[in-house]
Amino acid sequence: MVLRTIEWKDNSVVMIDQTKLPNTLEYVTYTDYNQVADAIRNLVVRGAPAIGVSGAFGLALAALQSDATEKNELISYLENAKKILFETRPTAVNLAWGLDKIMQVASQAITVDEIRTNVVKTAKKMAEEDIQINMAMGKNGSELFDDNDTIMTHCNAGALATVGYGTALGVIRATKDSGKNVKVIATETRPVQQGSRLTAFELKHDGINVSLIPDTAVGYTMANGLVNKIIVGADRILRTGHVYNKIGTYQVAIMAKQHDIPFYVAAPLSTFDMKSNPEDVIIEQRKASEVTGIGDKKTAPDGIDVINPAFDMTPPELVSGIITENGIAKPPFEESIKELFEAN
Ligand code: MRU
Repeated sequence: MVLRTIEWKDNSVVMIDQTKLPNTLEYVTYTDYNQVADAIRNLVVRGAPAIGVSGAFGLALAALQSDATEKNELISYLENAKKILFETRPTAVNLAWGLDKIMQVASQAITVDEIRTNVVKTAKKMAEEDIQINMAMGKNGSELFDDNDTIMTHCNAGALATVGYGTALGVIRATKDSGKNVKVIATETRPVQQGSRLTAFELKHDGINVSLIPDTAVGYTMANGLVNKIIVGADRILRTGHVYNKIGTYQVAIMAKQHDIPFYVAAPLSTFDMKSNPEDVIIEQRKASEVTGIGDKKTAPDGIDVINPAFDMTPPELVSGIITENGIAKPPFEESIKELFEAN
């Protein structure tokens, strides 16, 4: 059974604690939106679509937590909760998308009871729709992959990065389900190992053929003909086709260009930021300890200066296609992305 990452159960949010993987598949239950904010900040839940739905669930919890009896009072409680949830991670645009959607529903309701009922209902619907969207994206993307392809992926854009099924790994699942035989090469994805801890875990869990490589073997595998297509997810895609994804994606894309290997991105429309320009996007900088050690083991000298960006930007000229639930955008992206939104 494909993993379900986040769920609303009995007025609480249940999610897989991804910091414990791959050793333990453990679920945590939250009833306070501050716990959800901590979970996002500390990577208990991560991946752009999963963060978006977690934000929405966080606000639904906040609506239940507040003892407001007047609409204005409840809206200002939600505004404050939204701020706390929004500030947890700056790069994935799905978080703002999820929070804004819930705030819009709250502002349209008339009574406090109506707000509470509608925000919970909407957040639950967003979670179900996430899986449906991923399955549609998978079906669209599977047309780009052939029997006996070996597909490289970076980070984790799977069931664990979404509510279920996944974006990039959803395309791989759909390709396999269409009867094609595919193999996956997963990069380890230093520093926090979303490739080895999460992608390798979930593909193995689902019986999909996967080999793990150190990030430093990307060039070797391409140069030696061990990979013939690449697919990654995204945290934010601009209207120009600039793709923000896990640190290291840019290097993979550059090497793919050098070796003439198609480089695809799979992401739902909620990952597109049609307003910002590259200079507006904040790249999250994470703590030095992620780099100065592996797990609990120290691997660098005390006091060393560290640069630890969580994401990088891949320019549109390195991207062969962007797979969405509405179809596949091909270069030139400014036009094809616009068309995908118009088809909505
Ligand atoms: O820091 P993370 O683990 O949240 O980063 C996740 C990624 O970069 C994923 O590739 C991206 O969110 C797409 S997930 C469908």
